[in-house]
Amino acid sequence: MNKMSNWFFRLAVVYLMVGVSLGLFMAASHDHSMFPVHAHLNLLGWVSMSLFGLFYRSFPQATQTGLAKAHFWIYIPAHFMQMVLLALLYRGYTMVEPALGAVSSLVGVAILCFAITVWKSTRLAH
Ligand code: HEM
Ligand code: HEM
Repeated sequence: MNKMSNWFFRLAVVYLMVGVSLGLFMAASHDHSMFPVHAHLNLLGWVSMSLFGLFYRSFPQATQTGLAKAHFWIYIPAHFMQMVLLALLYRGYTMVEPALGAVSSLVGVAILCFAITVWKSTRLAH
């Protein structure tokens, strides 16, 4: 069983549904003002999380490392908060900007953990 991979896939399709729903809403309403939220729901949510899921499927031993666990447990809540705050920012709540900066930086930290995990796991792989 590969819990981490499964959860990345499960959450990825949730973000796909939310991202596509917002895309359909934008198209139908002719109001594209939320397009950065749509883009990052789909790209940091659906696309990136699916790729994380595929990676951990291919390198199951990597899921046992502290770095991979840090990647998962930082990325999931930080990316969720990033999308909530980004949506609020594009609705005019500019006061969320410092918090958005903080959670976006955490997404960056999680991605760094993933990058190191990929390099370490592939070092000895054929
Ligand atoms: C039924 C599905 C979808 C609909 C109806 C939809 C609709 C839209 C609309 C209306 C825009 C704004 C276009 C503009 O104002 O320039 C947009 C932008 C965008 N969409 Fe979607 N979208 C869908 C699915 C997706 C998916 C699955 C992805 C990624 C995997 C995606 C990625 C993007 C990106 C990156 C942008 C920003 C493009 C730019 O920088 O101009 N969309 N989409
Ligand atoms: C912490 C992670 C990230 C941050 C803070 C970030 C930030 C940004 C910012 C500030 C913009 C310009 C938005 C605007 O038009 O005003 C942007 C655009 C864009 N980003 Fe990201 N990004 C991140 C990750 C990613 C990733 C991983 C992808 C692709 C896999 C991506 C794809 C795009 C695309 C396609 C656009 C153009 C569409 C748009 O403006 O929304 N971003 N990003």
